[in-house]
Amino acid sequence: MPAADIDWDDLPLGLVRAVRKHTGRVTGSRSAKGVRSDYAATLETASGPVFVKGAGQPLFAASLAHEAATVAFVPGIAPRLLWRIDAAGWVMLGFEHVEGRHADYRPGSPDLPLLAHAVTQLGQVPLPEHVSKRVERHYNGLPAMSGNHLLHTDLHPANVLVSGDRAVLVDWAWACKGAAWVEPAMLAFRLMAAGHSVEGAEDWGRGLATWQDGTALDEFVIANHRSWRRAADLDPLDWKVRAAGMAHQWSVHRRLAKD
Ligand SMILES: Nc1ncnc2c1ncn2[C@@H]1O[C@H](COP(=O)(O)OP(=O)(O)O)[C@@H](O)[C@H]1O
Ligand SMILES: [Mg+2]
Repeated sequence: MPAADIDWDDLPLGLVRAVRKHTGRVTGSRSAKGVRSDYAATLETASGPVFVKGAGQPLFAASLAHEAATVAFVPGIAPRLLWRIDAAGWVMLGFEHVEGRHADYRPGSPDLPLLAHAVTQLGQVPLPEHVSKRVERHYNGLPAMSGNHLLHTDLHPANVLVSGDRAVLVDWAWACKGAAWVEPAMLAFRLMAAGHSVEGAEDWGRGLATWQDGTALDEFVIANHRSWRRAADLDPLDWKVRAAGMAHQWSVHRRLAKD
């Protein structure tokens, strides 16, 4: 069943009971939209609002366990993890609820400096021992991308909540390790997808201490183009074709494209 179709009332009773032990009575639930988890919602509870995220399938459960372990290392950058439950075949995490909205990555958005600040803070976090997946595995093992920094790697605007004057980074399921410059490079590409010119997106990246503008970035731009072109060839959905076009533009701009 897709996540959007599962209601609080559909969850197994054993799981509901285990949640209630932490939160007290649950008086309402608002499903989060566009999620990968089996269940994600803000619960109104006797102890206030709590964001919960759960998985009833082993693969997602493993990625939630990874997320739970990782957020412990990024306080102030991610929402605080309040509890973790294993019950009725489900894993469920309870987070501090962040009152906010998804970030706006378009040119001129006031959210961009907040995003830069959060990414700068992340750049200073030592790599937790359990984070062993390498970011370069998605890019043909590109050696320049390898490194020992903690990377989020999935910072699309719905994984960044703007709350007051802070950008809070959520959804650490894809956290992995790699060179520090990879996070801003990936973000620069997301900014292009949100309407920035290549120059505009690179300028934003240059504002970050970990940005690198050399051969490594060139290699990333080539690998990024190759992987989006392959994705669009395999499954030519509009957004994939658009991303492949943008990736191509980036490589043309850096005089890397052959065609
Ligand atoms: N701590 C939180 N407080 C409030 N809303 C949140 C919180 N964490 C995530 N969300 C919202 O729920 C959505 C789904 O959560 P996310 O962790 O991204 O799960 P998924 O892995 O299913 O994408 C996010 O896009 C965001 O809108
Ligand atoms: Mg998400």
